[in-house]
Amino acid sequence: MTIQQLPAVNASLNFLSTIFILAGWWFIRNHRRKLHIVAMVTAVATSTLFLGCYLYYHFHTQAVTRFTTPSFVRPIYLSLLASHVLLAFAVPPLVICTLIPALRARFDRHRRVAKWTLPIWLYVSVTGVLVYLMLYQWFPQPRAMHSRQIQTDMKTCFSLSKNCNTSGSPFSTGYFIRNCSQTRG
Ligand code: HEM
Repeated sequence: MTIQQLPAVNASLNFLSTIFILAGWWFIRNHRRKLHIVAMVTAVATSTLFLGCYLYYHFHTQAVTRFTTPSFVRPIYLSLLASHVLLAFAVPPLVICTLIPALRARFDRHRRVAKWTLPIWLYVSVTGVLVYLMLYQWFPQPRAMHSRQIQTDMKTCFSLSKNCNTSGSPFSTGYFIRNCSQTRG
């Protein structure tokens, strides 16, 4: 698997969390306690895996994919992203505060906290998938610029003491190298 595939993996993990959170809620509404526990613990596991993959992706790539086009969708995308990110910070502490009383069989307290945790967690999971779909599937943006890769390519290019044709936008890794090769040829 390549690092460029991780956004799709992350979105799938968010989607799985959404399914398990909804299932857990449906089970408890239908008095299926054991299934509620299994679904919620699985949702915690998929969300934790998502967090791990998300952090790995951002520590291992300089790629920044910005939503630029179409411009009329941009405000919608940015509002969705802002609400997603802000609420995402609240999810780990809320989940912990929901799990602890449940594990201590303090179900009155568990229910009180869970009434906040469940909708917020669900919103964050659903918007996580939507943000991915908007950025990569519905409105695919120009490929992310890997700034470090471009710098390396430029250094290599200049060290060859050739004229580098840098017209146009370097949206892909290796752009300068390809351009220089063409110029040299
Ligand atoms: C973060 C994960 C969890 C969330 C978001 C969650 C969510 C909820 C919600 C919203 C309710 C109330 C349902 C309603 O009244 O309509 C509930 C009830 C309940 N949950 Fe969880 N739950 C989670 C994990 C767990 C775990 C790990 C256990 C067991 C160890 C558990 C056991 C129960 C039980 C027994 C009830 C029923 C309490 C009662 O009827 O008084 N839950 N949960």
